[in-house]
Amino acid sequence: MTWHIIGSSSYIASRLMPVIPAGETVIRYARQPNADERKLDLTVFCESDLEKIRSGDFVVLLAAISSPDFCRDHEAEAYAINVTGTENFIRACLSRGARVLFFSSDVVVGATETVHDETMPVSPVGNYGSMKRAVERAFAGDPRFKVFRLSYVFSRQDKFLRYLASCVEKGETADVFQALYRNVVYLGDVLSAVIALGKSFDCWENSIFHLSGPELLCRADMAMCYQKISMSELSYTVSIPDARFFEARPNVIETRSLYLQDLLGHPATALEKAMQIEFSNTKES
Ligand SMILES: NC(=O)c1ccc[n+]([C@@H]2O[C@H](COP(=O)([O-])OP(=O)(O)OC[C@H]3O[C@@H](n4cnc5c(N)ncnc54)[C@H](OP(=O)(O)O)[C@@H]3O)[C@@H](O)[C@H]2O)c1
Repeated sequence: MTWHIIGSSSYIASRLMPVIPAGETVIRYARQPNADERKLDLTVFCESDLEKIRSGDFVVLLAAISSPDFCRDHEAEAYAINVTGTENFIRACLSRGARVLFFSSDVVVGATETVHDETMPVSPVGNYGSMKRAVERAFAGDPRFKVFRLSYVFSRQDKFLRYLASCVEKGETADVFQALYRNVVYLGDVLSAVIALGKSFDCWENSIFHLSGPELLCRADMAMCYQKISMSELSYTVSIPDARFFEARPNVIETRSLYLQDLLGHPATALEKAMQIEFSNTKES
């Protein structure tokens, strides 16, 4: 099977590439390609950019404007990429007979008061959430289209961990939110889920998978765990963001999955265990 990784410079794609099983053909696409990549801009692609995508191939679509603040402040530009360009691209892949995995977000679910699984109604928050939901809906019911709705994806290289590490390096006190409660999911589980879906795509009747970790955690919980496991000299204060911050993202999104454990073949990894895995390798990768 041929894998097409769209958005190969993204945080998730950079860790996905090394774990795709040996023997698979992998073609990577980027807006500004290097020598090993093909060029693909979601807003201006043409048929020849897609010539390698064939029937039965697996397209992993990671490219997007992933910042909720950018989607709020530059709506038209973000819409052109996250909705118009993304839908045109998915439609072209499906018409070529390929199978598509689209990366959505738990922001589609919206603010929750109780835990939400994949079968429950959604209420997207902010432009970013509405854009992701628009794409989910556009291809709902097509058996060659599946969706991973990601919670916050933890790894040593995620934005928040990089912020904490930079504070330690500079000797600064980190400002950490007692907010943004999410079922934080380990990047290792996200990668395993992509690999597993590549092998079992047609076996799943559901189209949406929540990629949710087992615990509802805020950023302060993550900082505490980082301090404990990384053994670093992190010092931090805890604050609550202002109301404008929550216009683009709800404070609490509690999700679980009816399918993820079966897809992975094991329960999703808890944060402390994930942190231990990430820091067991002392070298930053
Ligand atoms: N990381 C998370 O915690 C999380 C949570 C929920 C959902 N997601 C979703 O998962 C996916 C991957 O997330 P990520 O954090 O790995 O993303 P990321 O690091 O922000 O990378 C986004 C990628 O999209 C590319 N891109 C942007 N506009 C493009 C365009 N017009 N044409 C082609 N490529 C374009 C970027 O390329 P350039 O380098 O050229 O800008 C970059 O490679 C995204 O769809 C995101 O919304 C992520």
